[in-house]
Amino acid sequence: MPTPPPVRKAVFPVAGMGTRFLPATKAVPKEMLPVVDKPVVQYAVEEAKEAGIEQFIFVTGRGKYIIEDHFDHAYELESLLSSRDKTAELNSLLEDLPITGSVSFTRQQKPLGLGHAVWSARHFVGNEPFAVLLPDDLLVGKPGGMARMIEAYRSVGGGMIVAAEEKPLAETSRYGVIEPGAIKDNVIEVKGVVEKPSPEHAPSQLCIIGRYILSPEIFAELDRQERGAGNEIQLTDSMARLIGRVPFHAVLTGCARYDCGDKVGFLHANIAVGLSRPDIAPALRAILKEVSG
Ligand code: G1P
Repeated sequence: MPTPPPVRKAVFPVAGMGTRFLPATKAVPKEMLPVVDKPVVQYAVEEAKEAGIEQFIFVTGRGKYIIEDHFDHAYELESLLSSRDKTAELNSLLEDLPITGSVSFTRQQKPLGLGHAVWSARHFVGNEPFAVLLPDDLLVGKPGGMARMIEAYRSVGGGMIVAAEEKPLAETSRYGVIEPGAIKDNVIEVKGVVEKPSPEHAPSQLCIIGRYILSPEIFAELDRQERGAGNEIQLTDSMARLIGRVPFHAVLTGCARYDCGDKVGFLHANIAVGLSRPDIAPALRAILKEVSG
C-alpha cells in the first residue's frame, strides 16, 4: 500500500448562526459557548492538533470575530496575570495559542450550506488532502476522533474518510447517512452516501458525525454549486459524486459524541466532560444527586 500524502490542514466551518440555541447565540457565536471552561471550538482545534494538523483554517461569518481573538494573544490579560504571579493560568493560555502563521480566517459570505463553507476555503487548502471538523460535534476520546481517522486514512492508503456512528432510524433525516460495504476493524467501505434521508430512504443507520478527511478533487465537484437537501450546497453530495474515483471509508471512532449545537446535547457535554475532570467531578456529582433526587 503506497503511503498517502499527509493531512496537514484542517478547515473549521464556524459561520453558522446557531438558531437552535437562541437567545444565547444572538451576540455570542455558538462555537464560543463553553463546555466546562473551554469554548466548544477549542476542543475541535485540540483534537486536530493531536492528530498532527499544522494549519487551521476557519470559515467564519459576520459577528464571529471573537473566535479570531480567542486564538490570539490577549496582552492586557497576559500582563495582568503575570503581574499577579498567576503563572499557571498564564502558561495555560500561552500553551493553547497556535503558532504564529498557522491560523487563517476566511468568510463564507452567504449561508448556502456546508459544501459552500468548505468551498470557501479552497484557496487556503490548495491541492492537498485536508480535514474538516464541525466544532458543534464534540468528540471525546483518547486518542481523539481525528487521530483515529488519520490512522485509518494511512491504513487504507488515503482517499476520503468520515467519522460515523449508528443512530436510531428515526434520526437519519438529521445526518449524512452512508451505504456500507465491507467492514474491517471499525473501518467501513462506503458505497454510497445520502444527505438527510427520511428513515424509509436511509441506506443504513450509520450517520456522519462532523469529521471528514477529503481529497482536493472535492473542490471541482463543489464548484458546480448544485443545491441538495434543504436547498443547500451539501458536502455530502459532492462526496457521493467522487465515489468510484476516490476511495471512501467511514470510521467508527469509539469516541463519545455530543451535539453542542443542541441545548440538551450541550448540557450533556458539560455534565460528561465535567464528570471526567478530577477538579470538579466530586462537587458536580453531589449537585447532580441533589437536583435529581
Ligand atoms: C452536517 C452534514 C451532515 C452530518 C452532520 C453531522 O449537517 O451536512 O451530513 O451528518 O453535519 O453533525 P448539519 O448538522 O450541518 O445540518
